[in-house]
Amino acid sequence: MSLKDKLDLQRLPRHIAIIMDGNGRWAKEKGQDRLYGHHEGVESVRNVVEASAELGIGYLTLYAFSTENWDRPENEVNGIMELLVNTIRKEVNTLTKNNIKLHVIGDMNMLPPHCQREMEEAIAITSGNTGLNLVMALSYSARWEIVNAAKKMAEDVQAGKLNPTDITQDVWQKYLCTAALPDPELMIRTSGECRISNFLLYQLAYAELYFTDTRWPDFRKENLYEAILNYQTRERRFGKTSEQIQQNEEIIS
Ligand code: IPE
Ligand code: IPE
Ligand code: MG
Repeated sequence: MSLKDKLDLQRLPRHIAIIMDGNGRWAKEKGQDRLYGHHEGVESVRNVVEASAELGIGYLTLYAFSTENWDRPENEVNGIMELLVNTIRKEVNTLTKNNIKLHVIGDMNMLPPHCQREMEEAIAITSGNTGLNLVMALSYSARWEIVNAAKKMAEDVQAGKLNPTDITQDVWQKYLCTAALPDPELMIRTSGECRISNFLLYQLAYAELYFTDTRWPDFRKENLYEAILNYQTRERRFGKTSEQIQQNEEIIS
């Protein structure tokens, strides 16, 4: 039996964010080059994208490359960029066929020009799709995003377009790369590391965090279902008491 059958389809997270970690160690454990791990990781991406689309998840954000990852050895960085270009080129038709809309968050200007073009094309091709929103975090880091938001806000204040007294959490949120997305309810990190590594620091304020030892290239649909099942056992209190939450649920049901 698949764990999928145990899921409460009425209580699925609307937005799942994943730190896809462990490609390098997975490859090393097999006596292979780190790039081999990144290649195999693409199959896991296919799996979680397909599973999310099948479940009717609204948003899936995948942390594919961080600002800090630019400091990795040149051959690894180049290999990842080529993998990205080739994968997007190969998969764009499947995305469209499955009604998936592609988004990118991060500093796109940092990407090699051919990589930027490929991403922009895929974003344009899939822009009319209305199913799963697939968000790739590329050259992304939350501190970069937050500083960038502060800069844009300061510019708008200087230009007289924004009054400092009007800055609320809603306004702030509009200046982030994720302006069009709801906050993730579930954040998954693979490979046994229990840290955030500069991912969506603002947006994860109340996300449920799920850490698994599974290396990213081994992560499959069943692993995603397992994470969602675990999420469904959690009581999300948002600062309130358990009694308040239960009372509220009784009123709703
Ligand atoms: C995640 O796997 C992919 C990227 C960060 C690009 P890693 O490459 O970080 O793999 P480990 O953590 O070294 O095993
Ligand atoms: C986080 O993984 C970034 C991505 C998965 C893209 P890292 O492997 O770069 O994070 P650290 O260095 O272990 O914190
Ligand atoms: Mg890592």
